[in-house]
Amino acid sequence: MAEIKKQPRVKKEKPQKVFQAPRGMHDIFGPDTALFEELRMAATACAGSYGYQYIELPVIEDRDLFVRSVGTGTDIVDKEMYTLKTQGGDMLALRPEFTAGIVRAYMQNGMQNLPQPVKLWAWGPAFRHDNPQAGRYRQFWQADFEFFGADHPIADAEAIQLAVKLAESYGITDVCVYVNSIGCTECRGNYRKALKTYYRSKSRKLCPDCKRRLSTNALRLLDCKNEQCVLIKKEAPETTEYLCKNCSDHFKKVLTFLDEAKIGYFLDPYLVRGLDYYNRTVFELKSARQSGRNESTVEGDQAPQAEQKEPLSFGGGGRYDYLMKMLGGPDTPAVGFALGVDRMVELARDEKLKNAKPEPNVYLVQIGDAARMEALRLIEELRAAGIKLFFDLSRDSLKAQLRSADREQSVYALIIGQKEVLDQEVIVRDMQTGIQESIPYAKLVEAMKARMKQKTKAK
Ligand code: HAM
Repeated sequence: MAEIKKQPRVKKEKPQKVFQAPRGMHDIFGPDTALFEELRMAATACAGSYGYQYIELPVIEDRDLFVRSVGTGTDIVDKEMYTLKTQGGDMLALRPEFTAGIVRAYMQNGMQNLPQPVKLWAWGPAFRHDNPQAGRYRQFWQADFEFFGADHPIADAEAIQLAVKLAESYGITDVCVYVNSIGCTECRGNYRKALKTYYRSKSRKLCPDCKRRLSTNALRLLDCKNEQCVLIKKEAPETTEYLCKNCSDHFKKVLTFLDEAKIGYFLDPYLVRGLDYYNRTVFELKSARQSGRNESTVEGDQAPQAEQKEPLSFGGGGRYDYLMKMLGGPDTPAVGFALGVDRMVELARDEKLKNAKPEPNVYLVQIGDAARMEALRLIEELRAAGIKLFFDLSRDSLKAQLRSADREQSVYALIIGQKEVLDQEVIVRDMQTGIQESIPYAKLVEAMKARMKQKTKAK
């Protein structure tokens, strides 16, 4: 009988791990890069016009800074914070928002000693461990604006105006402002009592989270997105009915200033925002398209009692006069807002890409090593002149390089071959007409600057 040879066991290779960005976090590349950059430029321009100074903050702060400012009982602190313990035992958190960090920076850097008011703005990523869905990410970008040292209602109106004008300057022209006042600690105490009484009578129908909120943080009952809880909210007492005289006067003045500035708004008596530090004015921005509104804004109108799912807001903010003192700093009134960069890019993307025209650029073509050396030198001269360039110095084929110039929609190709190196010239080819001319090295930069200026004008 033939002997059956035992086959050596082949060790199964473990499949290679396919790396992915963490859930709810996304790369920004391709056309979106320009859309993000454009928004940042719009924010920089608006910040400059309204007197805001830029501040760059650490992405990580002391965890307690957010616990004490955003508040326990809020979803952000209870469920969504990325926290970490350092080797030294410090409890830190990835910032879920900017306001607390800016208040910390104001106090730590002695900005109370500067002439007031102080206006600061920041830009960057924030992190919330929420359920990812369209428009809701775990890492998202904010443009954040904070205005310290002014308690006058005009400051609230100014902040709302800046938020609206920034969105408009970026191309979101159907902005709906939703505004409310949640009063001072005194009015809020009375309102909270009324809210608890109302919600206790409905407690059997509340979601488990809201049952808990009833005893921990009653104001947060109004933030709940659960369908049944949204229905219950419709009959709840309204914040404005509980405002004291001072808070009521403040709110009326904010609305009058908005009317004067022709900023339309909807009054939303249930808008309380999901962070605990606010008092008096609170506001959110939405797009009319998403809110199911035809006209952009209606002054003093009531907020829609939408049957459909609430659209996500692309910005929000309000007054927070107690926060600085609560964190151990001087008593400093403040108002601010943050815009959700990712959501604004999403709102503007289709329209912007439809109308997008590439910035006029030039493709530098070289053939042979001597030409490569010249190309390296010319790249620097053209860069210094501010001309946008594409090139691939490792390529040899003229045809392939001209194909790339077509792909990049370059308006000119600059061609350097053996002959051009000897004659100290460059061939300038108009990619649209195919017309070519030779220009000496010494005159190239000036000649290209003039040509690019013309192409930019014609764009
Ligand atoms: P917020 O309403 O939590 O307010 O966030 C502001 C904006 O950030 C939102 O309107 C939204 O556009 C965007 N945003 C928030 N969470 C996400 C997410 N998970 N994914 C995508 N975008 C998101 C604040 O953060 C306050 N600090 C605003 C403020 C500044 N109040 C006073 N000063």
